[in-house]
Amino acid sequence: MFQADVLKDKVIIITGGGTGLGRAMGERFLELGAKLAITSRNLARLEQSAAEMREATGGEVFAVPCDVRDAAQVEQMIEQIWQHYGTVDVLVNNAAGNFAAPTERLSTRAVDAVLGIVLHGTFYCTLALGKKWIAEKRGGTMLNLLATYAWTGSAYVVPSAAAKAGVMALTQSLAVEWAKYGIRMNGIAPGPFPTAGAQQGLTLGGDFSQFVVDRNPLKRVGQLRELANLATYLISDYSAYINGEVVVIDGGEWLAGAGEFSMLDKLSDEDWDKLEAQARSRK
Ligand code: HXC
Ligand code: NAP
Repeated sequence: MFQADVLKDKVIIITGGGTGLGRAMGERFLELGAKLAITSRNLARLEQSAAEMREATGGEVFAVPCDVRDAAQVEQMIEQIWQHYGTVDVLVNNAAGNFAAPTERLSTRAVDAVLGIVLHGTFYCTLALGKKWIAEKRGGTMLNLLATYAWTGSAYVVPSAAAKAGVMALTQSLAVEWAKYGIRMNGIAPGPFPTAGAQQGLTLGGDFSQFVVDRNPLKRVGQLRELANLATYLISDYSAYINGEVVVIDGGEWLAGAGEFSMLDKLSDEDWDKLEAQARSRK
């Protein structure tokens, strides 16, 4: 689908880039010519991922430790990557923390942990790089990872839902405010993609496929490559006129959950015959 050089020499930072969706996006970007910087808290895991990604793609990967909840560490991380590559073209705000819990069980520290990573962390990274781009009089592209419950909210992941809704507001707001500086900002709202981080924190048994297959119109979870291809499009120059948009990639799952009559999917042909007869008999 993509020309092999579609991201040639673009310097891309991915927060949380050593695992899950961050790593899948990173590998795809490398295959398409990008130079990558990945950042998160666990340096050993980051460096191992960086080595495997270099090995798999032959691309350049720079691993920098950073806790995105700490604004000073974020500024240092952006500076270190800028110095290393001489510039930065793209930021993917992907790092997140999340777990399922009844909200009344949460301590304030638990709330802070999730809001700190998702909302504040995204904001700090966006601000640090945005200021640099503006000062250097050059533009760039940002891509934020949301979730479909940014619109709907969701029981049992309330700090994450509140944080993702905040990130959506940030995306839409800055897409307008910073367009004059040549900065473009979009989001992706994924449905269920089977990563260890998401599944272990959110499902009993650590496997999305069981509960998702039943309620997803496409009867499957997403493939990491599918998300990585969407991300590639949204950071590439091919999407140059898309700004402030959040693209859902979930097989139609949230629409199925919202649709008043989605449950009729469960009716048999016999049930449909009965319902048709009943409906026609109204005359
Ligand atoms: C209730 C919990 C908890 C749980 C932690 N806490 N886990 N409370 N239920 N399951 C509480 C702790 O007791 C503590 O409060 C506070 O939260 C902070 O916990 P720490 O372990 O000290 O925090 P920290 O080391 O910073 O870890 C952050 C984390 C952790 C979010 C808790 O899970 C993490 O690092 N996650 C990173 C990976 C991740 O979450 N990936 C999932 C992304 S999926 P007290 O008061 O006891 O001190 C996603 C969307 C998926 O975002 C959507 C699918 C469709
Ligand atoms: P994941 O593998 O657990 O990724 C989370 C990443 O964030 C990890 O690499 C983690 O690395 C990093 N991180 C956590 N706290 C951090 C901090 N304080 N500072 C810096 N980095 C931190 O989960 P994933 O499924 O790939 O999720 C990726 C993104 O997609 C998230 O934004 C998530 O909300 C979103 N999403 C995922 C799904 C899904 O089904 N998988 C669905 C909807 C949305 P360290 O532990 O090394 O810090």
